[in-house]
Amino acid sequence: MQTRTGPVNSSDSPTNPSARPTQADGEPANDSGPAAVPRHVAIIMDGNGRWAAQRGLPRLSGHREGVDSIPRVLDLLTDRGVEYLTLYAFSTENWTRPPAEVEGIIELLHEALERKSDLLMEKNIRVFHLGNTDHLAPDTGQVIERLQTLTRNNTGIVLNLAFNYGGRQEILAAVKRLIREGIAPEEVDEELFSRCLFTAHCPDPDLIIRTGGELRISNFLLWQSAYSEYYHTPTLWPDLDAAELGRALDSFSSRQRRFGNIPPES
Ligand code: IPE
Ligand code: IPE
Ligand code: MG
Repeated sequence: MQTRTGPVNSSDSPTNPSARPTQADGEPANDSGPAAVPRHVAIIMDGNGRWAAQRGLPRLSGHREGVDSIPRVLDLLTDRGVEYLTLYAFSTENWTRPPAEVEGIIELLHEALERKSDLLMEKNIRVFHLGNTDHLAPDTGQVIERLQTLTRNNTGIVLNLAFNYGGRQEILAAVKRLIREGIAPEEVDEELFSRCLFTAHCPDPDLIIRTGGELRISNFLLWQSAYSEYYHTPTLWPDLDAAELGRALDSFSSRQRRFGNIPPES
């Protein structure tokens, strides 16, 4: 499935709302001032396996608990005024795991997407898929496609599900697309390139949270995260609660984003 919307030269292509950060009210953030609420939060939902191991449970129980945690986090971030939430649910590298785990994760996500469609409509959430449906069973591709279509007129928080997603693969696909469409090198700029990515419909993430304690990016939003703020926590994804999420948002709010500039008082 393609979440891209037409040829890069088409006049009705969505413009990336901004590669620059903006405040929750849509006004451009003061580049050198303190940031407020992150407009776009992206989360690397890591630690499901360890959550299960701590309880002597099979890894899939951790993944189940992880999927069940999503509505809670979505509600908390909606209440705080976040406009876009991107969740890293399954990476292109996760295919290397034992087949039973891979199949189990995909089944859990497939089921959740089917079960939660009423809730997504009730909460006015718009869903986008980041990734492609290669390697996915056709019915899983269809369920994602249906959910995107079903929620397309919703005006609340945008939920991007990064599922079978890899940042390098996304960049390569964008390069191939530009070549295929015969775009001249001098026409290629950051804005055009951003419009070739799965995230063409949203601004770059302001805040990237990684649960589970690892200090790495694991092929997530490589292009889009150029100026994202990072927050790492040892809390395992199924244990992420309002208090820890609040700390992540407060940490973001206390930071000064400079984007290469210097503070105004210097
Ligand atoms: C994250 O949890 C979920 C996916 C990668 C699908 P993990 O399964 O990586 O959990 P840990 O890191 O082994 O604890
Ligand atoms: C990153 O977690 C991918 C997702 C959360 C979907 P991993 O557990 O796959 O990352 P690594 O292998 O520790 O880098
Ligand atoms: Mg992990």
